[in-house]
Amino acid sequence: MILHFLLFVFCLISGSLSEESPDVTIIVKGSDLVAEIDDTFLCATLDWWPPEKCNYNQCPWGQASVLNLNLSHPVLAKSIQAFNHLRIRIGGSLQDQVVYGVPSLEDQCLPFSKKSGGLFGFSQGCLSLERWDELNLLFQKTGAIITFGLNALIGRRRGNKGTWTGDWNSTNARDFIEYTISQGYQVDSWEFGNELSGQGVGARVSAKQYAKDVIALKALLNELYSDSYEQPLLVAPGGFFDQQWYAQLLNDSGTGVIDAMTHHIYNLGAGDDSRIESKILNPQYLSRITDTFRNLQLTIERHGPWSSAWVGESGGAYNSGSRRVSNKFLNSFWYLDQLGMASKYNTKVYCRQTLIGGNYGLLDTDTFVPNPDYYRQDMHITNQFIDLCLRNMKVPQVTRVLIFLNFSTSALLWHRLMGKGVLSIDISGSSYLRAYAHCSKGTEGISLLLINLSKSTKFSVTVRNDLNVILAEGGGIRRDNPFVRSLKRTVSWVGRKTSDESENRKEYHLSGNDGNYLSQTVLLNGTPLELTEDGDIPTLDPVYVPVNSPIDIDPLSIAFVIFPEFEAQACT
Ligand SMILES: *[C@@H]1O[C@H](CO)[C@@H](O)[C@H](O)[C@H]1NC(C)=O
Ligand SMILES: *[C@@H]1O[C@H](CO)[C@@H](O)[C@H](O)[C@H]1NC(C)=O
Ligand SMILES: *[C@@H]1O[C@H](CO)[C@@H](O)[C@H](O)[C@H]1NC(C)=O
Ligand SMILES: *[C@@H]1O[C@H](CO)[C@@H](O)[C@H](O)[C@H]1NC(C)=O
Ligand SMILES: *[C@@H]1O[C@H](CO)[C@@H](O)[C@H](O)[C@H]1NC(C)=O
Repeated sequence: MILHFLLFVFCLISGSLSEESPDVTIIVKGSDLVAEIDDTFLCATLDWWPPEKCNYNQCPWGQASVLNLNLSHPVLAKSIQAFNHLRIRIGGSLQDQVVYGVPSLEDQCLPFSKKSGGLFGFSQGCLSLERWDELNLLFQKTGAIITFGLNALIGRRRGNKGTWTGDWNSTNARDFIEYTISQGYQVDSWEFGNELSGQGVGARVSAKQYAKDVIALKALLNELYSDSYEQPLLVAPGGFFDQQWYAQLLNDSGTGVIDAMTHHIYNLGAGDDSRIESKILNPQYLSRITDTFRNLQLTIERHGPWSSAWVGESGGAYNSGSRRVSNKFLNSFWYLDQLGMASKYNTKVYCRQTLIGGNYGLLDTDTFVPNPDYYRQDMHITNQFIDLCLRNMKVPQVTRVLIFLNFSTSALLWHRLMGKGVLSIDISGSSYLRAYAHCSKGTEGISLLLINLSKSTKFSVTVRNDLNVILAEGGGIRRDNPFVRSLKRTVSWVGRKTSDESENRKEYHLSGNDGNYLSQTVLLNGTPLELTEDGDIPTLDPVYVPVNSPIDIDPLSIAFVIFPEFEAQACT
């Protein structure tokens, strides 16, 4: 009987503990940094996929490949410039089939074409030196920081079951890098291979062999850059994290060889997965990938403390993204949560697949590319009609860069507001409110990223400084709920003094048009953003709110909140 009673009480207690609390308290620990991101943390990719790349009856790449993107489109340059030194990673599945059109190349320099039996269904493709010149002109003009993915399969033999054996042949890469140096083109980092780690995707190489080859690449870079003022970084392997494979690569390649361990993330599943929306709105689902970040961090600490972790490519849903979700406001929930989570685990760089191309581009690709496969599929009659018209009119294939701000506002705000120092927080209340804290960028104080995944739970957020909590409570911080709840009743201040009622915080709220999270139009503080008449990026203005009032974040919306006076010792 007594036992039953105790069990009953226990159930009551545990039931109430797991219940979502309406009051959220966030305690920011301003005294220590838990991690630090690079200045060029934010990164976007350019991929090699040609117009013929299709998934799920759709061909969303158009003229967005490294080989054919219209580099003179003014919006392209302006959008890269808006980030003030955006990192661009050039790479992707076809990277290990790219040859460089140097004079010594024996083959003709031709683009990719469809080829049955070819890796990913395509032939080898060639980057001509003229195209490389044009790309570098754009990079120089826009201040982009370049990470270039080299072909790591060249020279190897294709074995059975996708394993490639034999040494990497560096001849073509050597001539290409020599040319790059001779022209004064800055490449910040050379990456080795794409998705060849662990089980591989199209192909795989053993960690032992890979280590041997990165040692050779490092020697090559040391030799070619011996007269240069700045040495580029060597990053690898640009694949999916596999603990044993990554550990062995670090161990076997040895001290100082790999400057950053790149890994790829596609944690939302395939582009045609009907559950993508519910996955993005499920906090437990979003958190699953923390194991990957944590394990990579531990692997580097144990096997290669000279190296650091980068996300080299991450697009949410694989196979070109989801046409229903990847180009909608909802995708920002996944993306910003990823940036916050990656930062916490000391990831230095995060490359979003893509800058342009596929359904997941920060810039929208609007293509009118007639495609042979197209007509066999059940596509919209209007698309067929447009394509037929374009064909008959002999209109050149075009990609229009459209709808810039809708998708990239979240990236731009992160880049401008979230500083390098990552702070730890204690958060109590609903798991549907996701929160990340960084030192502010370029000013004193801290910046919070708050994501409200809730459609219904009502909460009110109070932000405190652990410094003040310690002073007010005369003790350390515990995570248990009753304690945190009692905090609500204590006086708190997140400014310099207790008499800071007049101080304001800055807030940037992002929401979908008409409250629709599948809208393509994003509102900043309730207003749709528009390019200026000259096609420039408008200023992104905050609203000012008294610092000690609770924060309200609409259902299914995102906010960046800046506390300019927040005393965070670790940030100064
Ligand atoms: C590239 O974009 C520019 C500017 O919009 C346009 O004038 C030009 O025709 C485009 N080039 C191609 C090959 O489509
Ligand atoms: C590497 O490739 C070059 C160019 O194709 C070739 O001349 C050379 O013999 C190759 N080296 C090895 C070791 O196979
Ligand atoms: C680590 O690398 C060293 C030197 O390359 C090698 O002798 C050793 O067996 C490796 N250890 C593991 C666990 O791979
Ligand atoms: C945002 O997207 C809408 C279409 O949903 C478009 O009309 C508008 O021009 C876009 N805004 C910007 C600034 O790109
Ligand atoms: C998040 O959205 C829910 C849903 O309506 C709302 O009740 C809650 O107050 C919001 N959270 C915050 C922190 O404002």
